[in-house]
Amino acid sequence: MCAEHIAVAIDGPAASGKSTVAKTLAKRLGLIMVNTGAMYRAVAWATIQKGVNPAEASDVVKMLGEVEFRCGVENNLSTVLVDGVDPGEELRQDAVNGRVSKVAAIPEVRDLLVRMQREYLQLGSVVMEGRDIGSVVFPHTPFKMYIDASEEVRRKRREAEGIIDDPAARDKEDSNRKSSPLVVAEGAVVIDSSEMGIEEVVEAALEVLKERGAPQEILAKA
Ligand code: CDP
Repeated sequence: MCAEHIAVAIDGPAASGKSTVAKTLAKRLGLIMVNTGAMYRAVAWATIQKGVNPAEASDVVKMLGEVEFRCGVENNLSTVLVDGVDPGEELRQDAVNGRVSKVAAIPEVRDLLVRMQREYLQLGSVVMEGRDIGSVVFPHTPFKMYIDASEEVRRKRREAEGIIDDPAARDKEDSNRKSSPLVVAEGAVVIDSSEMGIEEVVEAALEVLKERGAPQEILAKA
C-alpha cells in the first residue's frame, strides 16, 4: 500500500447496499470509488461477446489473453473498458448476472483483476467494494467493513430496482467457491443494514474510519 494513500474495504453479499454506501462515502470524503463487481461483470460480458462458455475455465483463461481489459477512473469512479468498449448498463443484464459468479470463481480471472484493483491505490485513496477486498485485495488495511442485510431485504431491494436476479443463488456460489470466497474478513466491522437507511450506514462507516485512525485531512471533508 502507498504510505500516504488509504484503502477503505467494503465487502458484503449481493444487494446488501454496499455499492450505494461505498459511492456515498467516497463522494463525501473525495476518494476514488472502485466497484470491483463491475470488473468481474466485464469479464462475464466479454464471454457473451466472444461466445465463450463461462463454465469452461480454460476457455475463459484463453480469452483473457485475447481481450484487453483496461481499468481507469472518471469523476472519481472506476471505469472498465473491454477492448476499448464501455459495456455500460449491459453489465447489469440478466445474462451477465447468470454468468458472473462462474467467471469470478476462476483463479486466473481473480489474479488479473486483483492486480488491477491494487494498482488503483497509486492514483489516490480509495473506497473499494466487492467480496474479497478486506480478505485478499487489501488484507492489511485497518479500514474494513462487511455490510450485510437479511435475505428478504436484499431480495426486495433487487425487485425495487426492477432487476431480475437471484442474489441468494449468487451468494451461495460466491460463498462456496474455493478461490477467495465471500467471507467476513479478519478485523472487519459487520454492519447489518436491514433496518438502516443509507445515511445511517454511511455514518456507521465514518465512525469505523474515525475509531481506526483515518487521516484527519480525509475525515475533515465528511
Ligand atoms: O452489485 P451486486 O452485489 O449484485 O454484485 P457485484 O458487486 O456487481 O458483483 C457481481 C459478482 O462479481 C458477484 O456475485 C461475485 O461473483 C463477483 N465478485 C467477486 O467475486 N469479487 C469481488 N471483489 C466483486 C465481485
